[in-house]
Amino acid sequence: MTDSPLSPRPVVFSDDVLEHLPTHLRTNMCGELRPEHVGRTVSVCGWVSSRRVHSEHLAFVDLRDYTGLVQCVVDGAADLRSEYVVRVTGTVVAREEQWINPKLATGEVELADCTVEVLSVAEPPPFQLDERHETDETIRLRYRYLDLRRAQMQRNLRTRATINSAIRRAMESQGFLEVETPMLIASTPEGARDFVVPSRLKPGSFYALPQSPQLFKQLCMVGGIDRYFQIARCLRDEDLRADRQFEFMQLDAEMSFASQDDVLSAISTTVAAVVEAVTGETIGEIPRMTWMEAAERFGSDKPDVRFGLELIELTDVFTATEFNAFKAPCIKGIRVPGGAEFTRSRLDELTDRAKRWGAKGLVWMRVKPADAGSVELDSPVAKFLSDDEKAALVAATEAVDGDLLLLVADERPKVRHVLGLLRLDIGRPPVNEGGLNFLWVVDFPLFESVDEATGRPVSAHHPFTMPHEDDFGLLDGSPEDLLGVRSQAYDLVLNGWELGSGSVRIHRADIQQRVFELLGISKEEAQLKFGFLLDAFRFGPPPHAGFAFGIDRLVALLVGEENIREVIAFPKTQSGADPLTQAPTDIDPAQLAELGLRLLPRAAD
Ligand code: AMO
Ligand code: AMP
Repeated sequence: MTDSPLSPRPVVFSDDVLEHLPTHLRTNMCGELRPEHVGRTVSVCGWVSSRRVHSEHLAFVDLRDYTGLVQCVVDGAADLRSEYVVRVTGTVVAREEQWINPKLATGEVELADCTVEVLSVAEPPPFQLDERHETDETIRLRYRYLDLRRAQMQRNLRTRATINSAIRRAMESQGFLEVETPMLIASTPEGARDFVVPSRLKPGSFYALPQSPQLFKQLCMVGGIDRYFQIARCLRDEDLRADRQFEFMQLDAEMSFASQDDVLSAISTTVAAVVEAVTGETIGEIPRMTWMEAAERFGSDKPDVRFGLELIELTDVFTATEFNAFKAPCIKGIRVPGGAEFTRSRLDELTDRAKRWGAKGLVWMRVKPADAGSVELDSPVAKFLSDDEKAALVAATEAVDGDLLLLVADERPKVRHVLGLLRLDIGRPPVNEGGLNFLWVVDFPLFESVDEATGRPVSAHHPFTMPHEDDFGLLDGSPEDLLGVRSQAYDLVLNGWELGSGSVRIHRADIQQRVFELLGISKEEAQLKFGFLLDAFRFGPPPHAGFAFGIDRLVALLVGEENIREVIAFPKTQSGADPLTQAPTDIDPAQLAELGLRLLPRAAD
């Protein structure tokens, strides 16, 4: 693992590439000029980034292309404006010592004796291209083509391309074959809503857009592809967030005759190659943690292990308590070093949040010094606890003067959930701090819950996930037994983000049948939804396993962005709109008629 702050290498323009960039208008790129070019006459093309007029016959123009800026000394700039597109021909000269600009890669030189040709004029841009944070994001997206000119967006998209090509190289060198799967399909069972496309030739029928290539990649395994991969576009109609878009890209992979270890090893190799390509750093072996350990220690199936504040088990401390709030099946707490300083209003705020996340309450205790080097607990509920309980609590949490203890009592899953969120709320570092902490979370439960109304378990991944071999016996047990069934499913986590998921698939008809039965999927329904896959499995499916990770998320984390919109050329806003093209839009009544569709009146807003 690397501990250094995330530091994507600056995008490097290799000599091999630069050699190919001259065109009939330019001999060189703006950002490429160095002292070694002094004396040469060059032509560069780009956008006017800024102009500083000194006198009628002396002005400085910073010219920008995607490789960087170069300063041009021009004889008057009266007819130039920001973002005009120009071609400048001049001589590369060394700057005088006092004018060297160390912040600029081309800062030791400038272009002198310039001739300027205006290739295209521009209206004043609606926002400053160098001050991103002050620009409202909707405006940036409305004029995304201008936003893309900014150095940060250029870096993000170029790093994204570096990542895509590193993925492709790493997968190919491990024997994976790139196969393209269709976009117009029947539904895939990933759990989100489908985007649908009406069929013109069969009015009243719809295609679904793929939530992932899941079923097709499994068919590829039946088809003897052996190792499949795809840099796949996936579409899911779900609420958008910082790490979610309607359409996103996955590295999607599947392997035949492979175990969980085989998949983890192949994907780890690819992830390491990506990190190497972007940061120049080598990550060691990615550590593994069971789902149970992640839940107990971090209250999350995607633990952010960059910081402490781990959940501490306290159930045993309070087994005989008189305090009503603690008469619960599970009690856990977190110890916040220095947290005794938190103001009362911050503590009230944390309590409100805990309640919003489902807790019945939150107990806080400030740890204060007492006699003889010991500590005492300052809390409105301290009076309800016995001295033995307080002593045991201090011992279990290793609390010292200045700490804050936060305790939640409830059913175990609720306690983990609330404290897991509180932990993030209090301690989570910004996205670009704390290095890259990849983690494999393994042994996910097969079922995430049991539906109280039907008594049926709810699948945690998808219904083709193989149960853990040691737990096959539990499939015939009680609801409690079922919740204890581990699956051969695994997630890749990076700094608290779920980067990807995968599983060993069920290839045996008897096990598949049993899982469908448990999930309440009837034979008819299974045949209707996945009949083609089940049919294929009658013709010799190899044992297989696979994985997919979100490329948008990986790029965002590697360039230190909190939101995947920053690494997508043309993303949608949080409300699912595209301010640039105005999508989604109405369609022509004739087009609707052709599709056999009629709109219902819109619900009043
Ligand atoms: P899963 O549904 O976990 O697994 O998706 C895999 C990864 O895709 C990314 N991802 C998203 N990224 C951006 N926006 C979204 N709306 C979005 N949804 C998912 C995440 C996620 O971890 N077919 C299985 C994989 C398999 O079993 O092989 C699948 O799609 O990073
Ligand atoms: P009450 O007995 O409801 O007045 O709560 C006394 C204190 O215990 C308050 O500070 C509550 O926030 C807290 N509290 C109540 N229930 C719980 C619980 N299940 N877990 C943690 N704290 C609780």
